[in-house]
Amino acid sequence: MSADTRTAAPVTPAAPETRAADPALAARFWANAGGIAFGGDYNPEQWPREVHAEDLVLMKEAGVTLLSVGIFSWALLEPREGEYDFGWLDEVMDNLAGAGIKVALATATAAPPAWLVRKHPEILPVTADGTVLGGGSRRHYTPSSSAYRRYATGITRVIAERYKDHPALALWHVDNELGCHVSEFYGDEDAQAFRDWLARRHGTIEALNDAWGTAFWSQHYASFDEIQPPRVAPSTLNPGQQLDFQRYSSWALIDYYRALLAVLREVTPHVPATTNLMASSATRSMDYFDWARDLDVIANDHYLVAADPDNHVELAFSADLTRGIAGGRPWLLMEHSTSAVNWQPRNRPKLPGEMLRNSLAHVARGADAVMFFQWRQSFAGSEKFHSAMVPHGGKDTRVFREVCELGAALRRLAEVQGSLVESRVAIVFDYEAWWAAELDSHPSADVRYLDMLRDFHGSLFRRGVTADVLHPAADLSGYDLVLVCTLYAVDDGAAANIAAAARRGATLLVSYFSGIVDKHDHVRLGGYPGAFRDLLGVSVEEFHPLPAGGTVALDDGSTGSVWSEQVRLAGAEAPASFTSYPLAGVPALTRHAAGAGTAWYLATRPDAAALDRLVDRLLAESGVAPAAAAAPGVELVRRRHPDGRSYLFALNHGRSEATVDASGRELLGGGRFTGTVAAGGCAVVAED
Ligand code: GLA
Repeated sequence: MSADTRTAAPVTPAAPETRAADPALAARFWANAGGIAFGGDYNPEQWPREVHAEDLVLMKEAGVTLLSVGIFSWALLEPREGEYDFGWLDEVMDNLAGAGIKVALATATAAPPAWLVRKHPEILPVTADGTVLGGGSRRHYTPSSSAYRRYATGITRVIAERYKDHPALALWHVDNELGCHVSEFYGDEDAQAFRDWLARRHGTIEALNDAWGTAFWSQHYASFDEIQPPRVAPSTLNPGQQLDFQRYSSWALIDYYRALLAVLREVTPHVPATTNLMASSATRSMDYFDWARDLDVIANDHYLVAADPDNHVELAFSADLTRGIAGGRPWLLMEHSTSAVNWQPRNRPKLPGEMLRNSLAHVARGADAVMFFQWRQSFAGSEKFHSAMVPHGGKDTRVFREVCELGAALRRLAEVQGSLVESRVAIVFDYEAWWAAELDSHPSADVRYLDMLRDFHGSLFRRGVTADVLHPAADLSGYDLVLVCTLYAVDDGAAANIAAAARRGATLLVSYFSGIVDKHDHVRLGGYPGAFRDLLGVSVEEFHPLPAGGTVALDDGSTGSVWSEQVRLAGAEAPASFTSYPLAGVPALTRHAAGAGTAWYLATRPDAAALDRLVDRLLAESGVAPAAAAAPGVELVRRRHPDGRSYLFALNHGRSEATVDASGRELLGGGRFTGTVAAGGCAVVAED
């Protein structure tokens, strides 16, 4: 095939309402999965044929059912422009089909080949300071490059045409971790795409001037052509420009995905598609709630921070967020690690049993696939010290034995597939609010968007209470407790949605620096927190952010950090107040009747014990109970089928045996559940 047959993909987006996710394709994918899918990234191009043969034997032994193939194989599939070598991939696909293993086939576009970089250097990413990032690595392209889109859609079409009827093909794996390494692009073509996006968003330049507040500092624009991305500048940039650039940057990546998806839909309308997200506390540049509307099934990658002793709590947050992105439906854990990674400063291996616990934690929280980066540990290249399912030591290793045990465990959990996670608590989460809350020139650099969210999530986690992490506009009608943390920017619709939850009868808690601005980052006037002031029955005149590391005392004996403010009651009562100068006697925690529910306001970041007491109080008021009674250190989550069959996951992160009050069949070990879970062990109870 010659290069001329490549389809040109327009950089102009599809209209936002034409989003592509197809629930029927998702249903077909899960119906064919036959239980909890198990596998990982498979990179056979790094190995000779004999190793491929051994791979098949070991995959069978481990019980592998699904592999992501070809993610970084473009330079081998098309070694020179228009010259293709698919022989090796044909053989791999046929062998996997023969072994009954399904493939999430990649578009191979996550690392452009050297010939393409040489011919079109303008595809390379440019950073805010004008640095052009080079090739020889991966992800060295900007998603708005018209040349890159032409070539990427071209290779995608060639792959789709070749494998469209292949029996192994179960899912398209579009590109890989879009936005990984670089998520904002500042080159000339990006600048033009940004301008086009702004023109579509704002309609007229005057509307943009209003939205950005350009009367300030002589920032007025007479035409869209004058606008640049927020490149490095002498002082702080216009917040509207920064916020819109963040929105645009998220859009540019998913729009690139849509360009590849359009080709896949044309050639294989029957095959579902996804791309692997990186939803966690570490990824903030992409609005995955927006992206979800184009992914048939949601796939997520998650890596533990080895040095964090509570990394299993962060894992739970990531999984709860991923489930929120998936609209509560099952999702794929596309990557995690069997043991150490290679990209943290010090990469410790996972301890015996840790990988099983991590895997089952994802399953407990809605994952119906457990996959790893990668099947076989590379012997060369920059990821050679990253663990894999088959380590350097081969099959006679702890890691491979644990991989086989995991495969067996997942087979025993087949009946869990398709059940939904039970939760009556919603934690509101919004990428746009995250971006806006952490813009520069704010009252305190110590206000980090995730801090209160993670504090509440962690406290609930330790109490065995599962929370759904949801977009502010999500349906909140099924929740008895709703937590709104640092929702600095909120539009009127979302504010009304949150207020309606309280008025309907839920207990609502709003924490400081919420409801301050609208979607343009314009302050809501008349007293903070403008969007929630009436609902909460308070009004705030001035913020008193605390010194670095400083605390403030409260009259209930607790302390607060990071934040305090001049709260005035306007209908609410004050269960706790500040005691120290200059805010002595000023409310720190308030409670207000709101229709059939209540609306609490928290004006500081409480110490851990005070936060736990507050959570206990909110749970009691909202009538939300833990998934079961258990000893401390046990992670508890329940999944339930619509017909009522329920499964209690009890994962013991502690170092001693723990009791769990549940009865039923224990699926992992077989037999009746004994009521205890071994130190570091797991139980999945099909409840009576
Ligand atoms: C990401 C990538 C993989 C691999 C892993 C290593 O998740 O998608 O290709 O690099 O990181 O942890």
